[in-house]
Amino acid sequence: MVGCQTSQKKNMVASEIVSGEIWNDTDGNPINAHGGGILYHEGTYYWYGEYKIGKTVLPEWATWECFRTDVSGVSCYSSRDLSTWKFEGLVLPAVKNDTLHDLHPSQVLERPKVVYNTTTKKFVMWMHIDSPDYLKAAAGVAVSDSPVGPFTYLGSFRPNNAMSRDQTVFVDDNGKAYHFYSSEDNKTMYISELTSDYLKPNGHFTRNFIGMSREAPAVFKYNGKYYLLSSGCTGWDPNQAELAVADSIMGPWTIIGNPCVGKDADKTFYAQSTFVLPVHGMNNAYIAMFDRWKKTNLQDSRYIWLPLSIANDGSITIPWRERWKLDEVFK
Ligand code: GAL
Repeated sequence: MVGCQTSQKKNMVASEIVSGEIWNDTDGNPINAHGGGILYHEGTYYWYGEYKIGKTVLPEWATWECFRTDVSGVSCYSSRDLSTWKFEGLVLPAVKNDTLHDLHPSQVLERPKVVYNTTTKKFVMWMHIDSPDYLKAAAGVAVSDSPVGPFTYLGSFRPNNAMSRDQTVFVDDNGKAYHFYSSEDNKTMYISELTSDYLKPNGHFTRNFIGMSREAPAVFKYNGKYYLLSSGCTGWDPNQAELAVADSIMGPWTIIGNPCVGKDADKTFYAQSTFVLPVHGMNNAYIAMFDRWKKTNLQDSRYIWLPLSIANDGSITIPWRERWKLDEVFK
């Protein structure tokens, strides 16, 4: 990130978050963790994402803009202050020697999210697994004993026998985990309760936002209610975000509307949601994470991180900020 005055002793440092710029890791390389999510575990934040490296191509047979890079794997970066990020490597690397493997470079691996199961003591990764034409529409699962891997890939399937593309996983305060995924040709958002080990759907699911084509789900809980931030369905191109709220995580959900405020708010600031991070140890402090995709050069896609703004009446907006400091916003 830009303009850091780091101090490992303090939890929050006087670092600026400048959305859309290149953010370097502690080795000086651009952070490469797209469609990502962050897990807080024992004092450290772990940021997992798509490691998009190399040429972006549009396959010859493409009938839509399915720009892609080869799958390299899932990267992980660690930080204690949300500002200085150390590259922990590819915690789930591509499998190069088996063309039929889900993780072969020719396939699609997107939107990895990692949660921790306090009972099994395993780190569980869920991800979108697809064929290059996006017809497979499956979810993949991997596990590890350590947040920095290596993760063991368990395979992919269609959860509840339904298509699964853009996705996320959310663990509630009671330890129950839920898989949110765009299903039925991305038209309907499924919310699926997971088994107690977080490895499979437990069979209890609901269909939400039926026919509304919501993607890029990011879930958080605030003041006892559940919130879902999502995008519309226009491939790598930006569209308008939407926030919805529910008393029960399985629904019914009520649409609030576009939470973004300011220049280009109708295009989500030229970005797409991926995760909402509760800042550890702080009340009502959340960072909304977005990807600003560069569809013809995906590896150079950038990150947009903005603090949620919560008004006295509890209403939530995401105002645009060119640059902001963690310790000024989250006091
Ligand atoms: C988006 C989706 C991305 C990626 C892209 C492919 O709608 O959110 O994760 O799948 O489509 O075009």
